[in-house]
Amino acid sequence: MKKLIVMMLLSISLFAQVKEEMEVPYIAYEIKMGKGFDAVNANCLMCHSFGYIINQGPQSKLFWKKKIDKMIVHFKAPITKADQKTVLDYLYKHYGNGELK
Ligand code: HEC
Repeated sequence: MKKLIVMMLLSISLFAQVKEEMEVPYIAYEIKMGKGFDAVNANCLMCHSFGYIINQGPQSKLFWKKKIDKMIVHFKAPITKADQKTVLDYLYKHYGNGELK
């Protein structure tokens, strides 16, 4: 009897398969390659994905400057002055709204 129960329990898992095809949501973040991307890759993507940046939508240069400052002040992102400028220029060029402020 015990054997039968064990056999039944074992066989249950055989039928516990998902019939439908599973769909994992895929979110494509458009990463624009170009001058300065290396600096973004090295300085920004160590902590989070590119989605954090892109989800902001097109923004002003000042907005991006403040975001970079925030990363440095609040999250202690180790970014050199030169790289800060490179990243800022990159973000403004590709994800800017044309406004400086
Ligand atoms: C040391 C880790 C670290 C680095 C490096 C870093 N970030 Fe972040 N960043 C964070 C964290 C943590 C959050 C999430 C904050 C939250 O959830 O409120 C974040 C959130 C963001 C956001 C979402 C908006 C916001 O204000 O929270 C943007 C935009 C962003 N980061 C841009 C950048 C850019 C651009 C760089 C490169 C210059 C960068 N980050 C580098 C840690 C980092």
